[in-house]
Amino acid sequence: MSRALAMKPVELSSPLLRLDQPVAADSKLMFEYCQDPLFERFLTVPWPYNATDAETFISRYIPSAWKSKDEYTWALRAVDKPDLLGIISLQPGSGSIGFWLGAPHRGNGYVPEALRLVADWAFSTDVVDAIHWECLVGNIASARVARKAGFIFQGQAPSMSPYRDGSHPISWQGRLRTVDDRSPKDDWPDEVVAP
Ligand SMILES: CC(C)(COP(=O)(O)OP(=O)(O)OC[C@H]1O[C@@H](n2cnc3c(N)ncnc32)[C@H](O)[C@@H]1OP(=O)(O)O)[C@@H](O)C(=O)NCCC(=O)NCCS
Repeated sequence: MSRALAMKPVELSSPLLRLDQPVAADSKLMFEYCQDPLFERFLTVPWPYNATDAETFISRYIPSAWKSKDEYTWALRAVDKPDLLGIISLQPGSGSIGFWLGAPHRGNGYVPEALRLVADWAFSTDVVDAIHWECLVGNIASARVARKAGFIFQGQAPSMSPYRDGSHPISWQGRLRTVDDRSPKDDWPDEVVAP
């Protein structure tokens, strides 16, 4: 896909989920979800997270990053309800994927499904031919999502993306390529594979 033209947001959907653009009305829930202490520990969102962080992310950063092709970000919603459930994003330059879900909505397989939708779209449109996933060592829920989506575990290494303080902490890393089958692989850390 040419990088010369501006990119317009695309909508993706399945019987379970709709991925579309976050809108101003989502900022209240985004602010509430982003008070989760797990986000301070595992994500690079601003901390403390303020209402204006959600508003600016939705109104400025997301549209401009689509246009410039720096990062494609979607809201996760159930097909039959308008409420924001979480966020997933893909950086076409590095192939990096990121995601979070509001705490009340976890454990329903929403993020593995969102990951499948984004990967299918990104591979079929040649946006990327490989997706890079990473999380801080010990973020088992994130690693389980990546494993369920078929990512191949690459080991642990300093994170590709800088953490909130600019450091590159040791992270679990995985990769999914166009040619990979999507079955969960066994060579992940035991605590990720364990039932
Ligand atoms: C990671 C996250 C997006 C997972 O989303 P989800 O839609 O709930 O994913 P799933 O429904 O597939 O559940 C994830 C799995 O992790 C497990 N899990 C969740 N929390 C866990 C914990 N603290 N310890 C061990 N396992 C845990 C769940 O039981 C589930 O296991 P299963 O696959 O065997 O059923 C969500 O937990 C989240 O938003 N976490 C905080 C933000 C974050 O860490 N984002 C990723 C940054 S790299």
